[in-house]
Amino acid sequence: MKLENRVAIVTGAGSGIGAASALLMAQEGAKVIVADIDAAAAKATAERIEKAGGAALAMAADVSRGADNKALVDRAVATWSRLDVFFANAGVPQWPTAVEEIDEAVFDRIMAVNVKGVWLGAKYALAVMKQQKRGVFLVTASTAAIRPRPGGSCYAASKGAVVTLTKSLALECAPYGVRVVAIAPVATETPMLATFMGKKAVDDEGMARYVATVPLGRLNQPEDLARTAVFLASDDAAMITGSCVEVDGGRCI
Ligand SMILES: NC(=O)c1ccc[n+]([C@@H]2O[C@H](COP(=O)([O-])OP(=O)(O)OC[C@H]3O[C@@H](n4cnc5c(N)ncnc54)[C@H](O)[C@@H]3O)[C@@H](O)[C@H]2O)c1
Repeated sequence: MKLENRVAIVTGAGSGIGAASALLMAQEGAKVIVADIDAAAAKATAERIEKAGGAALAMAADVSRGADNKALVDRAVATWSRLDVFFANAGVPQWPTAVEEIDEAVFDRIMAVNVKGVWLGAKYALAVMKQQKRGVFLVTASTAAIRPRPGGSCYAASKGAVVTLTKSLALECAPYGVRVVAIAPVATETPMLATFMGKKAVDDEGMARYVATVPLGRLNQPEDLARTAVFLASDDAAMITGSCVEVDGGRCI
């Protein structure tokens, strides 16, 4: 098992990439705090982990709030005495919109969750990891940080910001033996996908349009990212820090 006895927190773990990652981390031996703004969704993922024989705790948390991030980290340390992995994965998408038509409130919410939410996770998790002199902080960025699509200006800017945040934190944490790594998925088959496509529900036209932009000829499944997150969180990735790992079937080439 790649994460035996590790303690992990995964945000946005009620759905999609976060849920798949929490499940696989638990399968690989980690005890997992399953955090989501949607309390029922977090509970459902935690129950799936426990049903499969793993250890999990569900917590409701809005990552854009400092107190919620602090509560996650405090709970991990209080329950299991340490924190090995914090996966700052929660994020919100953007409906494709011309820049002049975007409400300021849309920009503010995307930045609050996708950027400030990651920074707040880092603020509390890295304090513990630096003291422990071990730990891995993972961030879900996006290929939008590298190769954005038209109409997604706020989202692309938010993901670009966390790629640079990752590099800055990686340098700061390297002397403590703590690693910080970003993951950049291409379009992934989760509930968020329809919004990126500008649709109420994913349909054949949307899929064909998106698949045509991925050289390997398919989109990600959440499990593609879960496997990447487990690898990056494990000692197999001991020399990887500050990187933005593209999981994109060649989209960013
Ligand atoms: N699906 C894609 O095509 C795609 C591609 C690249 C990157 N991403 C990124 O992957 C991450 C996960 O998204 P997903 O595709 O699994 O989507 P998803 O909609 O399946 O899951 C997102 C989860 O985050 C939760 N969430 C939203 N706001 C939150 C907040 N403020 N605090 C805590 N939880 C919150 C939601 O309740 C939901 O359970 C996001 O950061 C997203 O930007 C997704």
